[in-house]
Amino acid sequence: MVMSAAGDAPITRRRVAILISGRGSNMTALIAGARAPGYPAEIALVLASRADAGGLALAEAAGIPVATVASSAFKGDRAGFEQAMQAVLDAHAIELVALAGFMRILTPGFVAAWQGRMLNIHPSLLPAFPGLDTHARAIAGGAKLHGCTVHLVSPGVDEGPILAQVAVPVLAGDTEASLAARVLEQEHRIYPAALAWVAAGRRTPPEAEGALANPLPRDDWLPKSR
Ligand code: GRF
Repeated sequence: MVMSAAGDAPITRRRVAILISGRGSNMTALIAGARAPGYPAEIALVLASRADAGGLALAEAAGIPVATVASSAFKGDRAGFEQAMQAVLDAHAIELVALAGFMRILTPGFVAAWQGRMLNIHPSLLPAFPGLDTHARAIAGGAKLHGCTVHLVSPGVDEGPILAQVAVPVLAGDTEASLAARVLEQEHRIYPAALAWVAAGRRTPPEAEGALANPLPRDDWLPKSR
């Protein structure tokens, strides 16, 4: 519990775990965003699926508790991997999960347990280009607009209700790297805004200038209070 910026009304901050597998630039943006006064969530844990995820050191340097559940230790046993992750999430009393470059596909059971409380960021304007290599596919397909999406996680990969999107132009001469960099800049703006929106249980768009946002589609996608 913290006091609001005005100092009068207490704010309950939702305890968020960020799940990563790699470099963690979105994780870093979420950690920075959550430090804003009155932000309705705190980053209570960074959980990695691999011990060599670059984001782990960044999270530690930022003073965030970290844990690793190595998916490599659970080959062919996705349920076991997820049970181990769930135990860590429970131990840290996590209420919301933000996937940020988390490269494991989750089972319908795990997704159902977190329905309405688990977000993902994807580097395309979904439903275009789900899956991998989105920037190369956008260029190869001749797309003039590309972008990023924050959505609630449902059992289908890169499906689930879209919360917010930002479009970026595909420029003549763009390479996969140049387009990825332009999109990533927007990912870092939109994800903290969308997380705040879900954490606060709001039905209005996140306050990210330039973000396109959909209202939450159904009450059962709202975060459940504990
Ligand atoms: C981002 O492009 C994100 O949209 C996708 O994976 C990438 C992760 O990058 N899901 P980072 O680890 O956040 O830097």
